[in-house]
Order: sequence, then structure tokens, then C-alpha cells
Amino acid sequence: MPERLKLAINTGGGDAPGLNAVIRAVVLGARYRGWDVYGVKSGYAGLLDTDEIIHLTPESVWGITAQGGTILGTTNRGNPFQMPVENAAGEMTIRDVSDKVVANFKRLGLDCLVAVGGDGSLSIAQKFFEKGLPVVGVPKTIDNDLSATMVTFGFDTAVSTATEAIDKLHSTAASHERVLVVEVMGRYAGWIALNSGVSGSADAILIPEIPFDIVAVCEKLMDNELRGRRYGIVVVAEGAAPKDGTMVTHGKGEIGREEVRLGGIGEIVAQQIARRTGKDTRSLVLGHLQRGGSPTTFDRLLATRYGAAAVRFIEAGQRGIMVAHQNGTMVPVELRQAVDRMKRVPLDHDTVITARELGISFGD
Ligand code: F6P
Repeated sequence: MPERLKLAINTGGGDAPGLNAVIRAVVLGARYRGWDVYGVKSGYAGLLDTDEIIHLTPESVWGITAQGGTILGTTNRGNPFQMPVENAAGEMTIRDVSDKVVANFKRLGLDCLVAVGGDGSLSIAQKFFEKGLPVVGVPKTIDNDLSATMVTFGFDTAVSTATEAIDKLHSTAASHERVLVVEVMGRYAGWIALNSGVSGSADAILIPEIPFDIVAVCEKLMDNELRGRRYGIVVVAEGAAPKDGTMVTHGKGEIGREEVRLGGIGEIVAQQIARRTGKDTRSLVLGHLQRGGSPTTFDRLLATRYGAAAVRFIEAGQRGIMVAHQNGTMVPVELRQAVDRMKRVPLDHDTVITARELGISFGD
């Protein structure tokens, strides 16, 4: 192994609070060892157009730990194995340009790529590893849906933002005796809805793991009404679906985007509640507010530990791995295994049981 390693780092997929803290930890951890770090702009795009690669010095990461977003930029359309490219006739076609990424990586004399991303970006990282590119992954997602790691950075901030929003909605809901339905992110996992719903004292929480019956949700709200609590808060995960229905999706066939977009179930639930209970009901979608802003202390620390551990594992010669947080410590797990399985809310999870014991309805 050469003495002075040249690392590259990119951030891919949706942004998450804590990305900048990872970048800073990688840069400072590398500097501690006398190594260099190059920032790849916009996911893998910077390895296609290498003008988009910047030398990251300790000075370039000053003060970024508390900043949301990513100084490197990100995209969830930039899969080099399936890149939308315009052909001579001006039509968009999908091409595999991964060889160019590998060639540029080698030409620049880079020793290892620290790929910071969610399941999509880490699956791309795994494919590059199989093509011979040395990679170490760092898991990122506000959805907290990666099975190999106990918690991903960004999740705590997203839950805090959602909880704060729910707290604020209580006063309006109570003053107007309304039902307020809040739709939160999380894709196919209900972690954000579950944690913010319990923390924000919701009356019902609808998550993808528990198909709901709107009748049960309305019964819960009307039961409250009979007890004198004349308002309600319902937290709905964007991936929640009724027992006899499907998730609400958008964007099928958007060029270069592999995943459908979720969203819209909150308004449907609100309309059904209004119709069935006669209660004045409103819905709101928290959307990208949950990905923005300064990371919580928990996320800053976690993200910093992820970044530092990535450099440590590279020094130990590990490649094709993802840094995982398990039992309070950072461990390397095979990248292949890490992107294999989604972590959804187990129905016997302690928080689910707690919620039920508090009288929160899951609509089942
Ligand atoms: O994976 C993070 C996430 O915010 C999901 O919770 C959400 O479904 C998705 O990304 C939204 O993606 P986009 O920013 O492309 O709309």
C-alpha cells in the first residue's frame, strides 16, 4: 500500500443532514495520516467529467459540520450503469458509462472511493467494486431503512423536524377542533412516522408495514371525541397503504430515475376522515423540510464517527465494505450484504408495542 493514499469521496442520492460532517471527518482523518482527499461533485458525475473533482483540504471543510446538505452536491439520477445520454438524433437513451468512471479513477491515481449514500448509491458502489474499483461505503438516509446498520445519520434530524411540526399542529388542531393529517417521508419503511408520531403524541400512525383500515382510524378519532378530546393528529408515512389498496406513487418513467416517487396518501386519508367523521380535516406534507437544516447533535456525532471509521477501515486495508453502526461501535460489513435487505419496522418492535399501549391506532 502506498504511504500517501489519495482518497476520493462522493455523496449520492437524496441529501441528508450530516453529509458535511462525514466529508469533514474523512478529510481530517486523511490529513491525520498525511493522505489527500478529492471531492467528487454530484454523485458519480464528477468521475465522468473530472473538472468536477476538487482537492479537499482541512481549510475547505472548516465549519461545515453544522451545515445541512452536502458541499459536494448530490443526485438521484446519476447511475453510470444506466446513464441517460442524448444520441445524435437528440433522443434520450440509456447507456452504461461505468467504464469511463473506472478509467478516470485510475488515471487520477486514486486509491479508494468513499461512497456516501443510501441503498441506491451503495448498490452502485458495490457494482463498481465488482468492476475492480476500491470502494468503502458510508450509509446515509433519513429513512433509516438499511438493515446492516442500527441507525443512519440524518434520521434523528428528520424525526426531530417532524416531531417539532407535529407539536405545532396540536395547538391549531385543538383550537379549531380539527383533525390534522401529517404526511412524512420514509419510503417503504415507517420509522420516521413511528418515531415522530409517538414523540409528537399522535392519535394514529399509519405505516407501510401495517396496511390500514380507515374505519379503524375514524373509530379511534370518534372515541377520542366521546371522551372530550375534540381534535386529532394522524401521522401518515408516505409509503402507507390501505388494506385493500396500494401506495400512492408518481414519476414512473422519469428519465434516469430508477425509483418511483411516493406521496399523496395524506390528503386521501384526510378526505376519507372528513367524509366518515364529519370533522373539519386538513392535511399537510412535510416533504423536504425533513431533509434540510442543521443536523442534530446526535447526527453530527454519528456522521463524524462514520467518516472517521471509513478512513480507519481504509488504512486497515478494507475494501468493498460499508461502515455499519452495531452495538454502539463502528464495524465493517460487506457492501454486498449491506445493500441486500431493507430494514422495515418489525411489528413486534418495542416502539410499536409502546404506541399500542398508549392507545395510538395503527389503523389495523
Ligand atoms: O430517501 C430519502 C427520501 O427523502 C425519501 O424519504 C423520499 O421518498 C425520497 O427521498 C424523495 O426523493 P426526492 O427528493 O427525489 O423527491
